[in-house]
Amino acid sequence: MRILAGIGALAIIIAVGAAVFFFGGYFNVAASEPDPGIVKWALTKVRAASIDHHARLAAPGNLDDPEIVRAGARAFSERGCTNCHGAPGVNWQKFSEGLNPDPPDLKDIVHERQPAQLFWVVKNGIKMTAMPSFGAIGTDDKEIWSIVAFIRKLPNVSEADFKAWTAKP
Ligand code: HEC
Repeated sequence: MRILAGIGALAIIIAVGAAVFFFGGYFNVAASEPDPGIVKWALTKVRAASIDHHARLAAPGNLDDPEIVRAGARAFSERGCTNCHGAPGVNWQKFSEGLNPDPPDLKDIVHERQPAQLFWVVKNGIKMTAMPSFGAIGTDDKEIWSIVAFIRKLPNVSEADFKAWTAKP
């Protein structure tokens, strides 16, 4: 009985402490403040598990089709992905270095992701990060799949390819 009362009291003290910490303004939301290792670890795990759980759609067509890859390169450039993620021969904007979490260099991560996961992230975005939902602004699935086709090729796209594929007709 005493042990239970002790556990109950402890739970109340922790809840009150957490409420004071978060609602009293003591938690620092500054992007310039690096997250403690455990928070970073937890956020990465939560993000990966959520994307894994939600990403279910199979690609409707052939993601290796060169026409689709080129259309994706154009969309990637026109939709502004380069501002945060960069592209072959295109530097990301300086401001993106001030984002927390920072936008990954996509060529380094695409081989660890399934097409369905890339599609889901571009369509839906990621809460509490700077990654926007392109579905929410009306980008249709066909265009998003073309972007997926393009970013899967990123590790092998040269600067000259990207320039040619995104040149104004
Ligand atoms: C305003 C900045 C910004 C723009 C514009 C932006 N992104 Fe992102 N993106 C981010 C950030 C920040 C993350 C990292 C989120 C995280 O760590 O949880 C991210 C993450 C991603 C990821 C990786 C998700 C994962 O599984 O780890 C992909 C893929 C991606 N973006 C693709 C795109 C594409 C394609 C576009 C354009 C259609 C785009 N992004 C536009 C900021 C941006």
